Amino acid sequence: MHLVKGREMKTLRSLIATHWSSDARLDGQTAIVTGGNTGIGKETARDLASRGAHVVLACRDMEKAERAVADIRREVDGASVVARKLDLADAKSICEFAETIYNTEKSLHFLVNNAGVAACPYSTTADSFEMQFGVNHLGHFFLTFLLLDLLKHSAPSHVINVSSMAHLMGKINFEDVNSRKSYHPFRAYAQSKLANVLFTRELARRVEDLGVTVCAVDPGPVNTEISRHLVWPMQLLQKTFGFMVKTPEEGSYTTLYCAVTPDIQTGGYYRNCGPALCSRAASDDRVACKLWALSCYLLGIRWR
Ligand SMILES: NC(=O)c1ccc[n+]([C@@H]2O[C@H](COP(=O)([O-])OP(=O)(O)OC[C@H]3O[C@@H](n4cnc5c(N)ncnc54)[C@H](OP(=O)(O)O)[C@@H]3O)[C@@H](O)[C@H]2O)c1
Repeated sequence: MHLVKGREMKTLRSLIATHWSSDARLDGQTAIVTGGNTGIGKETARDLASRGAHVVLACRDMEKAERAVADIRREVDGASVVARKLDLADAKSICEFAETIYNTEKSLHFLVNNAGVAACPYSTTADSFEMQFGVNHLGHFFLTFLLLDLLKHSAPSHVINVSSMAHLMGKINFEDVNSRKSYHPFRAYAQSKLANVLFTRELARRVEDLGVTVCAVDPGPVNTEISRHLVWPMQLLQKTFGFMVKTPEEGSYTTLYCAVTPDIQTGGYYRNCGPALCSRAASDDRVACKLWALSCYLLGIRWR
């Protein structure tokens, strides 16, 4: 068996880990990070707080969320960070979260749609949507719809949708978007991550003149809990070779780059702290428009 030596390993990591830093300050600005209790979201929240932003961790498990708040306060002197309950698998919870935000925050400069579930066994949200399409796409679509007035009011403001390279394998199955006829965990994940890029494109077009920029991000391969639903041999592989992919902190860099870079190209797709090419399917304005209409129909909203 050929063992990869320390130096070669370093070289391998340097292919994927992007070093990035910025002195940008965000004093007086407010950010929401969904799934901010762990992984890429927690690192994103910690960094935004260290730049002086007031950060809201939007999480479904309040115990985990409060632990993350305590960690960030310990690590960042004077951090302004709070946790609020948000279950993206339940439209009622999304409405309650948005109501809380309108009651507690005067402005919103960054909405980081980061939370995600990957390759889980078939299950459905409280509103009967397939879980990955429901949480990764529809949950964030609905959340953005409800918070858009506050984003507009706080312009210049930013929506950052955390997608994935997996979108390259995605296809929106308009005939069976909730995978009721047939379900494949990775196909459903890829569909939801393609939906993130298409949503980015269409939303950017619609809010172009309102001072709200919209970006989609691929964080790259990152050693987080995202693999929790993988079969055990895959989990073992991830545990063994996890050190070869990005750390959660490195995984947050492209999101942060999109947040603090002035004049970022709205509607764009970013990887390794720079613009990247998305798939042809993700650049199809007709499909983006059709997905928008379908999402509104499924959620029972009018968003013109
Ligand atoms: N890690 C990678 O290699 C990778 C690669 C490409 C893209 N991404 C994307 O990066 C984003 C962050 O993932 P990660 O790697 O940091 O994974 P992670 O460590 O598993 O974090 C996912 C977060 O999403 C939250 N979440 C899941 N379902 C939710 C729901 N119904 N309501 C509210 N929050 C929910 C989780 O909450 P709990 O802790 O309560 O479960 C957790 O906070 C995801 O969108 C993922 O698709 C990751």
